[in-house]
Order: sequence, then C-alpha cells, then structure tokens
Amino acid sequence: MKLAVVALTALLCVLLFRLVMSQKASQEPRTAVEQEPRGKAKVGEGAKKKPKSAAVKAKPGVTPRPSTVATTYLTQVLEKGKFQKVGNTLSVSAGDTLQLRCKGNPVEWGVPTYLQEDNEGRLRMVQHKQYGMLILANSTGADTGEYTCYPMHCEDTDCRKEYEKAVKVFIFFPDPQELFVPSSNYYEVIQLRTNHPAVLPCQVTSPSAKVTLHHEYPPAEVKVDGSEISFSVTRGFTIHRPRPHLAGSLYCVASLGGLRQSSTKYMLVYVHYPAAPPSPVIQASSDTVALGQNLQITCMVVGEENVLVDFTWDYPGQKIGRPLYTQDSVETVQVDGQGRQQRSESVLMVEEVREVDQGTYTCTAQNLEGSRSASTTVSIPGGSSTAKLKQPRERGRLRGRLV
Ligand SMILES: *[C@@H]1O[C@H](CO)[C@@H](O)[C@H](O)[C@H]1NC(C)=O
Repeated sequence: MKLAVVALTALLCVLLFRLVMSQKASQEPRTAVEQEPRGKAKVGEGAKKKPKSAAVKAKPGVTPRPSTVATTYLTQVLEKGKFQKVGNTLSVSAGDTLQLRCKGNPVEWGVPTYLQEDNEGRLRMVQHKQYGMLILANSTGADTGEYTCYPMHCEDTDCRKEYEKAVKVFIFFPDPQELFVPSSNYYEVIQLRTNHPAVLPCQVTSPSAKVTLHHEYPPAEVKVDGSEISFSVTRGFTIHRPRPHLAGSLYCVASLGGLRQSSTKYMLVYVHYPAAPPSPVIQASSDTVALGQNLQITCMVVGEENVLVDFTWDYPGQKIGRPLYTQDSVETVQVDGQGRQQRSESVLMVEEVREVDQGTYTCTAQNLEGSRSASTTVSIPGGSSTAKLKQPRERGRLRGRLV
C-alpha cells in the first residue's frame, strides 16, 4: 500500500515536470535567440529556429532588440519573382513604385505623416495569407521617411500592434529636382534649450546629397564638427549643446551633382534653462515667537543670473485660511569665486502671531528645470487656552486691518 502511494507520487512528479518543461519549450523560441548561453540546453528546439535568428542578424541595428523580432522581416519586391531583403535604409528612385512585403497575418503599416493624410490613392496596403504588402505608386521625393511594419497580435477580433516586433526601414526617394523633402511651413520655430539637444530635420531625399548648415544673418556656414553639432542623413542636424550664439534664422543647403538647393528656414529661439532646480534656504526671524509678536520667514535662492525663480508657501495658518503676505525681491550679487550670481528672495510676513501660526513653514522654489522645498519649524510657547478665547476678537482685528 505504502509502496503504491510512493510510486504514484513519483509518477505525478514526473508528469508535472514534463508538463512544465514542455510549456517552457513552447515559450522558448522567442527568447532563445536573445539568451544564447541558454540556447544550448535545448539543442533540438534551438537548432530548428537558427535560420530565423540568422536572418535577423543579417540586418543589424534595424531595431534596438533584433532578437525579439525573430519572425518579422521586410522584403522589397523588385520585379516578377525577385525579392530583396531590406536593411536600415533603402533608396527607390522617385517615380518608381515601392513594394514592400512584411511577413505576418495581419500586419499594420506605419508611413510618414504626410502620406497618411494625402496620398491621392497612390498608397495601397493588401493583406495576404502569409504576409502584408505595401504598394506606393508614382512615388515622389516627399515620400521619403520611415516605414514600419507592425505584426499584430490578435485574440478573436481584438488585435493590437506588437511594437517590440516592429521592423523599420528609412526609405529615400531620390528626386533629381527636389533635394529636400518639401515642408508645408515657410519656417519652423525650434526652441534651443540649454542642456537639451535640438534637431533641425532638413530631410534630404537622397542619401548621397552633401548637406551643410547656414546662418542667414550674418550669412555664414555653421561648423559641423560631429560633437557639438552632428549630421545624420535620416535625422538631420542635431545641436547637442545649444548656445545663445546659435539663435536666429538657419537653413540647410544640399548639393548633389550640379544641383544646389536650400531647405525651409528654422527659427532658433534660445531659452535659458538653468543647470539645476533651485536650492532654497529657509530661515525664520526666530524659532520661538511670543504670542502677538511679528514673525518673518525668509526663503532665499542664490543661483545663475537671468533665471526666474517662483516661490510658493505652505504654512500652519493655511488650514484656517489665515491670510499672510509675502515680499519678493531679486538682486544681483557678487559671490567669491563664482562671479555674478542672482539672489532671489521671498519673505513671508506673519503679523501678531497667534497659536495657529505654530508649526512647520515650507517654501517651494521653482525654475524651468524643477522645484525644491525647504522647511523650518516655529514654536509659540504658552497661552494655549487663552489663544482660543481671544480668537473671535483677533479675527475682527485682522479684518479691520485689511480693510
Ligand atoms: C501614376 O501616374 C500615372 C501617370 O500620371 C497615372 O496614369 C496613374 O493613374 C498613377 N497611378 C496611381 C496609382 O496614382
């Protein structure tokens, strides 16, 4: 009897183990490529999936995590019976028809914004049993941009895009007449924020165009050294560390063959962002105040010049709606070793202190980069019962003073 129970338990254990392992194996293919060391544990499974992972590796950098797109890829249909695997970028002569094939059923396509809105029936998407097709007829340089295939995950009729499996390709449509993708705006306004990169898209239709950056006034070419300012044929110019002298009207010039063209204009507006949120320092005129005395809490920020600092206060009397007022001021000061600095100050005035004014005072200082708070505590010794008795009269007095 005992033996039978042991044997049955052992059998159950084996079955359970097999079940778990087979479930794991069915989940594995997706991750097997990603975690290579683990792959060797499942020789049978891994070997079968190899060709697919190799296909993904043939186009490195298509997505940040190529391992997760083991089943998605794009091919370009060239002519009858001819296909070509697509890499990061692709060039299709303007005027030609683009045909892309993406494995999966169903798939969805992402196209440049301009094409979504206005393609005059030139763009078609067709779903076949094994793959989706994107067909763009009578292409123009303006069609240049990023094209994406999203495999769809469906449960019954409810489908969602599998973003992690998306495949992207940047397609150029070199147009001998138009070196830049036309822009609907005469000029674009771009904010140059300190400590944040700024991008001037000036998208070219041909990857072989030579592109330079220019200041309109005074007319001068802007030096592109690759570190302060860099250029990418798919993203345009990136200003990595915006500086005030770059503000103004800029444009790009593209040249290819005998052709030389200017892009739309970019109005660069410099906005001074401080390097960090303010660091407020708070101080009460006294930590202990007698009832009826005046109290002042000072909140001060010393930092870069020409940075607006905004102060807000939280104080004990708030809960009964006690109206207090503040005096704000800004001045430039000389700080040893740091040169000219700006001192911004907010003083909270508490006149004729009452018991309700006892507690924590918090000042929050904010600039464009963020906000920080500082707190201090004020105690009001004695008179806890008398304060309550006096309240109605005091309120009257306060009102009287405010009128
Ligand atoms: C492409 O252009 C040709 C010639 O202008 C025109 O006949 C044809 O209808 C266009 N095709 C599409 C799909 O717009």
